[in-house]
Amino acid sequence: MTADQDRLSVRFWAVVPAAGRGSRMAEAMPKQYLPLAGVSVLHRALAPLEAEPRIAGIVLVVAPDDPFGNDYRPLTSKSLIVAHGGAQRCDSVGNGLRALEGEADEQDWVIVHDAARPCLHRDDLTGLIDTLCSHPCGGLLAAPVHDTLKRASSGGAVLETVDRAGLWRALTPQMFRYGLLRDALAMTKAAGRDVTDEAAAMELAGHAVQLVEGRPDNIKVTRSADLEQAEHIIAALGQ
Ligand code: C5P
Repeated sequence: MTADQDRLSVRFWAVVPAAGRGSRMAEAMPKQYLPLAGVSVLHRALAPLEAEPRIAGIVLVVAPDDPFGNDYRPLTSKSLIVAHGGAQRCDSVGNGLRALEGEADEQDWVIVHDAARPCLHRDDLTGLIDTLCSHPCGGLLAAPVHDTLKRASSGGAVLETVDRAGLWRALTPQMFRYGLLRDALAMTKAAGRDVTDEAAAMELAGHAVQLVEGRPDNIKVTRSADLEQAEHIIAALGQ
């Protein structure tokens, strides 16, 4: 298959893991359902995916006992599949990929985006897809580290200064070939390895994962203070 045929025939699917409990926030509901600039964090995370015409459908992965997750209604006519999450983020993504079985082809692209990242700029999503759509396996949005990094003890004593040269923060979306990502996640699970993003599973499986520089303000809402910061970022993005 030529690169042009590949570009024409493959489809893009979004998988949004939203099955976390938000245990680092003192809120009664999971962080993805907290209000942010008039809608929920989850709506903000989904909006750029819904607005991207190349994405054929979205898999939303929610906790089985989630009282809020099943209420989500798509904003567009894209197909929406609701899947159930697992114990770890990688289990939730694996379940999301299983929900695409029979629907997605091996070479199709899966775009995994955290439900807890409400500040994704549409241009970053477009740039990720444009940069990677001819890549053999895929890659992720990332931002270079500019601060000096310290490794510390649990008590906060500095143990060492870590060289920041060549270090990047891994963001989402992360975009990989459906078949390769499914197999890489299954392999890391079978090996008992913990991975906190899809890229790590692909790296362990021996694939050359590509970084695509994204905006540093594509933050993950982890602590209560992040919500306030996310509001400012959204107001500045104007989307
Ligand atoms: O916990 P963390 O901040 O890394 O979560 C990142 C994303 O993964 C969140 O959107 C969260 O809802 C999701 N997640 C999940 N299943 C889990 C744990 C986290 O879908 N078991």
